[in-house]
Amino acid sequence: MPDTQPAQRPLHVVVLAAGKGTRMRSSVPKVMHPFAGVPMLGRVLDTVSRLTPARTHVVYGHGAEMVRATFADVGAHWVLQAEQLGTGHAVKQTISNVPDAALVLVVYGDVPLVRAAILEALVTAADGGLAILTAVLDDPTGYGRIIRNQVGAVRGVVEEKDATPVQATIREVNTGFLAAPASLLGPWLSRLDNKNAQGEFYLTDVVGLAAGDGILVTTQEAKDIWEIRGVNSRAELAELERHYQRCQAEALMDAGVSIADPDRFDVRGGAVTAGRDSHFDINVIIEGPARFGERVTIGANSVIKRTEIGDDVVIHPNCVIEDAVIGANSIVGPFARIRPGTRLDDRVHVGNFVEIKNSELAVGSKVNHLSYIGDSSIGRDVNVGAGVITCNYDGANKYRTIIEDGVFVGSDCQLIAPVSIGKGATVGAGSTITGDVPPDTLALARARQQHVSHWRRPRKKKN
Ligand code: UD1
Ligand code: CA
Repeated sequence: MPDTQPAQRPLHVVVLAAGKGTRMRSSVPKVMHPFAGVPMLGRVLDTVSRLTPARTHVVYGHGAEMVRATFADVGAHWVLQAEQLGTGHAVKQTISNVPDAALVLVVYGDVPLVRAAILEALVTAADGGLAILTAVLDDPTGYGRIIRNQVGAVRGVVEEKDATPVQATIREVNTGFLAAPASLLGPWLSRLDNKNAQGEFYLTDVVGLAAGDGILVTTQEAKDIWEIRGVNSRAELAELERHYQRCQAEALMDAGVSIADPDRFDVRGGAVTAGRDSHFDINVIIEGPARFGERVTIGANSVIKRTEIGDDVVIHPNCVIEDAVIGANSIVGPFARIRPGTRLDDRVHVGNFVEIKNSELAVGSKVNHLSYIGDSSIGRDVNVGAGVITCNYDGANKYRTIIEDGVFVGSDCQLIAPVSIGKGATVGAGSTITGDVPPDTLALARARQQHVSHWRRPRKKKN
């Protein structure tokens, strides 16, 4: 190829997402089914956005309201295909919105693992004609087959349901992804018909039209077949998800992280990074973006979402941590729940059956047993005893609790917010604190112990 200039044409991406996905047997449209915690279509849109297209057109139809509501803030051109008459019909819905000078890339919304690099290669290959993304599969069942002539030139794509027995043995398949100049694609689309086994307007028929017009059809072969696999059933969805999860685990292991069982480890949502010699026990689920320092230990059955965890932290088993920051050398759990807006500084200890929400705990503080800490600021080296509750909610409004450095709160206290406990103060066990406690004092707010002698407990009455 003499021309090595990158394509200067504006790129318009058309994402096909209108199909029902009959074989999913679901009331939810296929592209809305979650893949690694994100609707399949969301992943595809994210990948497409990396090509920085001039415009992205999303053709939607089945479950229209749900699709629009979920992606309300995605700045795409949403095109309703009220009746799903085939992939060619789908692209046709928006081709009039694409300028002639543009290059069109068609992407299927049910192929969650496709990567930006291969799409870029397809776009580059399409500058002079039609480029289609292909793959060679051991088992081509379900895919359109690539038809070539004696000298190997592509002549067309035949859908499985239309294939002769001989054509069905072809292992080179169409992935559905293609790219072409809009000036060529538009006229091809208007020439499509639905005279085929499924009575649909096949996008894949443009390949035969291009070949017939003497336009060069180039193939871009995907070597990693996972990248082009479409989801048609729940079993295929699960198979692709397991493959993806295995890849996530392998990437982390390659970076020096131990994973007790890669088949019982899941990364969902955004990216996850972890430092060397960190260790994830079985059944850990991480929702990214999340960052783990070095030598972090995560116990079994923990769920960690969008959280940053410092070096040498130990998370004991069965913790749920969400939208939080956990400082180096801290220890959390077992059975702790850390809710959004929590910031634990270094060397903080949070023990079993403790819930913390929207609160900061400074260096060295401890809340070790059965507590609720909400909307609180806790200073350094504070000890919060067992069963302490910050009463942050009066049924209508929320208030903050301030606990300054070095405070000791005895067991089973209620701190009625808004309230503050001054530096170095002590709160006696069992106290209900309603007023601010001055620094370095002992606050007691409980009844003095009384003894009633010869006390007799009530007896059961006889009828
Ligand atoms: C399609 C290809 C086939 C290819 C396979 C790869 C056609 C005719 N066939 O077949 O060659 O091997 O993908 O996975 O294109 N869609 C719409 N509107 C419609 C119909 C479909 O938006 O009217 C969307 C679907 O939501 C889906 C995508 O297009 O995201 C593919 O549709 P699907 O019915 O799954 O096509 P296949 O039969 O798998
Ligand atoms: Ca499909």
